This record gives sequence, structure tokens and C-alpha cells, in this order.
Amino acid sequence: METSDSGQWREVAQVGDIEESDVKGCLIGDLCLAVFNVKGSFYATSDICTHAHAHLSDGYVDDDTVECPLHQGRFHIPTGKAISAPPTEDLRTFPIRVESGKIFVKVE
Ligand code: FES
Repeated sequence: METSDSGQWREVAQVGDIEESDVKGCLIGDLCLAVFNVKGSFYATSDICTHAHAHLSDGYVDDDTVECPLHQGRFHIPTGKAISAPPTEDLRTFPIRVESGKIFVKVE
């Protein structure tokens, strides 16, 4: 797979693994990622809530937002923006691409 100074594309799932309005958690090394399907478009963010230690892949996806399972904070999936308390810090997002039915995420 292509590599560069700014990161490496890693396969994280097959397109069919993540249904619409669903999310899949995956681990690349020490990095916990959440890969979302929002109306057929895929997005990747950190899987760990910025408020405390909860996995957003266990949360509730509603349209283009995800609700944290622990204190119900919400984030905008495409931008990672924290949109409702208690989290105030945005989620890290990662570039994503789909090729031949496979989903790749670019990680450092
Ligand atoms: S851990 Fe996510 S809102 Fe508190």
C-alpha cells in the first residue's frame, strides 16, 4: 500500500461490514478508530470520546452525528466537532477512501 511522510493507508473494513447509520470500531496499533457509514459515505474518527474513556463505536448514530454511550455527548461525524455537552474538545478525524469494496484510513 502507498506510504508517504504524512501517513499510511490501512485497510480497516469491507464496505459490506458497516451498514448505513452504523459504526465499526477498529484498532490500528494503539490507535482506536471508529468508522462510520453516513448515508453511504464513510468517515473515520478517533473511537475514544474526548470527555472520558468511552468508545463511540458503542454509541448511537443519528444521521451525521454520534451520541456517546456514557454521558450522551454528541459529535458531528464528518468534522469530529463536539456539538453537545459534556465534551468540549473535538474528535480527531482521519482521511478515508474506498477502493474495490474496501475501506482504507490514513494514519500517521
Ligand atoms: S465519556 Fe463521552 S460524553 Fe462523557
